[in-house]
Amino acid sequence: MVDQAAVRYGVAAHASSNGADPPGGVADAARSSAVAAAQAGHPSGDNRFRMLDATLKRHRFAPDALIEVLHTAQELFGYLQPDLLYYIAHALKLPPSRVYGVATFYHFFSFAPKGKHTCVVCTGTACYVKGADRLLAAIEGCLGTVAGKTTPDGQVSLMTARCLGTCGLAPVVVYDGEVAGNQDRGSALERMKGWTHDGPR
Ligand code: FES
Repeated sequence: MVDQAAVRYGVAAHASSNGADPPGGVADAARSSAVAAAQAGHPSGDNRFRMLDATLKRHRFAPDALIEVLHTAQELFGYLQPDLLYYIAHALKLPPSRVYGVATFYHFFSFAPKGKHTCVVCTGTACYVKGADRLLAAIEGCLGTVAGKTTPDGQVSLMTARCLGTCGLAPVVVYDGEVAGNQDRGSALERMKGWTHDGPR
């Protein structure tokens, strides 16, 4: 099946380029077309693309500016949707697979909208020994979602982390950026009271 986003931005054509073109060759022409496309603005008319384009221009559409561009895109849009990744791939003359690969490698990039609240359960060794796996399962059951996902009402994103550096307080959970130690099912539910529209299960 042909990906419509890829067609819209002509990514499929660029993905086949190996970047070994001589000066003035296909790569230069493609770069010029990316500049022209950025100047023309995104077809959606979404102003955030103009701001993203400004970042792309500031980096002169250099492929090695990928991580910085991804950061800007996430700040502007909240998360990296496929359409956005294709747009960046096209602008930087990179295969979409490379852009996706880099974005998935770093945990700070997100591919789904974040919830209004965040709950991060530490699953590092010290917390695991103190029952972090059971605590996580209990929280998943109460929220009706699993680690790495957001509740269906979009209220709470549940995540895990590998050692938060406060092992003496194990098991540790971070609620909206606030570290809490010695957590159990009851204290976790108490901290998240009112976070979901439906309430804990
Ligand atoms: S293992 Fe959880 S804080 Fe270190």
